[in-house]
Amino acid sequence: MILITGAAGFIGGNFIHHWFDKSTEPVLVLDKLTYAGNPQTIAAHLDAGRCTLVQGDIADRALVAQLLAEHQPRAVLHFAAESHVDRSIHGPGEFIQTNMVGTFELLEAVRAYWGAMATEAKAAFRFLHVSTDEVYGSLSETDPAFSETTAYAPNSPYSASKAGSDHLVRAYHHTYGLPTLTTNCSNNYGPYHFPEKLIPLMILNALDGKPLPVYGDGLNIRDWLYVRDHCEAIQQVLAKGRVGETYNVGGKNEVRNIDVVTTICRKLDELRPKADGSRYEAQITYVADRPGHDRRYAIDPSKVEREIGWQPAETFESGIDKTVRWYLDNTVWTDAVRTGAYRDWVAQNYAAR
Ligand code: NAD
Ligand code: DAU
Repeated sequence: MILITGAAGFIGGNFIHHWFDKSTEPVLVLDKLTYAGNPQTIAAHLDAGRCTLVQGDIADRALVAQLLAEHQPRAVLHFAAESHVDRSIHGPGEFIQTNMVGTFELLEAVRAYWGAMATEAKAAFRFLHVSTDEVYGSLSETDPAFSETTAYAPNSPYSASKAGSDHLVRAYHHTYGLPTLTTNCSNNYGPYHFPEKLIPLMILNALDGKPLPVYGDGLNIRDWLYVRDHCEAIQQVLAKGRVGETYNVGGKNEVRNIDVVTTICRKLDELRPKADGSRYEAQITYVADRPGHDRRYAIDPSKVEREIGWQPAETFESGIDKTVRWYLDNTVWTDAVRTGAYRDWVAQNYAAR
């Protein structure tokens, strides 16, 4: 079996669906169930008994040690993190605690477990760390895309905390020989994406007739990766990746924020036209920029393509079509995650902009 941290969140939850499309190997999920964690996302697999959820903190070393001893996983896949840049600007403490201290405590528990394994199982064991392209900083329009050798230059408390976790994982391989794999990927999008992030926020605000808040001039660029493509890359890196290596995963879909938002608006005009005949684009509102806002991210995925044989299946056009349709069809999920706490966050982040 495998142990996955943070699988009640967006990417981890999609990974569970992806895993059970292809495998019957059971999964144990360790998730703190913060505001971003939602067991509903993986309810079908929990109910079917293929997957077990333990609510707990990756920083609780004793709990992790107990779960490892009890379940004897052949791999640990580490998705758990505080993941939203704007929240890290309002309150960086939780990001340091979970992304750095939490990853350290998790690594310590895993190191002790792995160190005591029998020789064959020890050689086969993997610790796969899911990280981000934001650790590389910001690109100008003409810079080459991030490769695995690009120097780290994180700019937000979030990306700095992820960079710290990447360095710890690297050190645990280099110093202790822990068989690690690290993936650094670009912006994911798709089903079950918490609506604090750009794409789901814009879809749901548009449908609610609310402003579509574009930060700054709207010309920042992100390299969009459909979440199931990312999940496939992780599954393949787990199976075929070279121990100690890092793999950059990107969708080769660089899009300016304003173009992302207008694409969503046009898709909604087509699928859910407004009764009064007006266009969703009329709701676009430029607001104050994010402090320290990175201008452009772009991933060079040639290493994962060459060594692992992975390729993204979705273009931005096909992925956004699937995503918008999913949000239109899954209002039970979207209503449930937009609770009082969500509304408090929206007020905190947007009221003063
Ligand atoms: P998310 O915020 O949707 O989910 C994070 C999950 O981790 C939640 O279920 C939450 O409850 C859990 N969690 C948080 N703190 C925890 C703790 N201390 N102990 C146990 N569980 C805890 O995040 P996501 O978008 O699914 O991102 C998953 C991983 O991928 C993160 O490591 C993130 O840095 C990385 N990543 C995300 C993106 C993206 O576009 N979303 C891109 C690159 C990398
Ligand atoms: O690059 C990978 C990263 O992508 C991940 O590591 C992070 O976990 C993930 O949250 C994401 O970070 P971003 O900051 O790029 O994503 P976000 O959806 O918050 O914003 C995308 C872009 O849209 C960014 O340039 C800021 C802008 N934006 C965002 C919001 C929420 C807006 O213009 N308006 C908004 O309301």
